[in-house]
Amino acid sequence: MKGETTALGSPRRGTSHEDRVGAYAVEIYRHWADVHGIPKGEADGFRDVLKISAMLHDIGKAGIPEAILQKPGRLTPAEYTIIKRHVLLGACYFENPHSDWDALAREIALNHHERWDGTGYPGVREGVCFDTTSFGPGKKGREIPLSARIVAVADVYDALVSERPYKDPWEEGRALRYLRRQSGKQFDPEIVDIFLEIHESIAAIRKDLAEG
Ligand SMILES: [Fe+2]
Repeated sequence: MKGETTALGSPRRGTSHEDRVGAYAVEIYRHWADVHGIPKGEADGFRDVLKISAMLHDIGKAGIPEAILQKPGRLTPAEYTIIKRHVLLGACYFENPHSDWDALAREIALNHHERWDGTGYPGVREGVCFDTTSFGPGKKGREIPLSARIVAVADVYDALVSERPYKDPWEEGRALRYLRRQSGKQFDPEIVDIFLEIHESIAAIRKDLAEG
C-alpha cells in the first residue's frame, strides 16, 4: 500500500481497493435507500456501518497463504478451493457479534461471493466456523443480504478496472459491459442498474481514491 507525506509531515495512508469498495458501497446504498424511501435517519445510520463493514469484506484473506493470493497465473482447482475459504474465515472473525457493526461485517464477509443466480459460494447458512472447508449450495436472489449484493458489484468493478497480479486493468467501458452482462446472473439486476445510473459519482470516487 502506497503512502505519502502530508503538509504537516505525518504519513498519510495511500488509498486502496478496500477504501474504494467502502465508498462505492455507500454511494450505491445511498441511491437504493432513496429509491426505496428509507427514512433519512435510518439510511444515514446504516451507511456509516456499511462503509467500514464493506471495507473489511476480504479480511479472511489474512488466513490464506500469500503465495496463492499473489500468484500471477491461473489458480489450480485446489488453490481456488483454498482461496474460497476466505469468506468463512472472515465471517468467523465476527462469529459472536456484539454490535451492528460486527453483525454487518460478518454478513458481508460471508456473502460477498454469493451470486444472484445461486452459483456462488460459500452457500453456508449456519455453523460458519464449525467447518471452514465445506461449501453448500449457493444462496440465490434476495436470500443474499442486500449489503453483500451491493459489495459484490463494488468489489468486482474495482477489481476489473484495477491491476492484479494475474491481469492488467480493464478499460472502463469493458468493465461496465461486464456488469451489464452479469446482471441477473452474478449480480442483483437492481444493484447493477443503480451502479450504472450513478456512474458519474462512482467515477468521481474512483478518481478521488485512485492509488498512487
Ligand atoms: Fe472476497
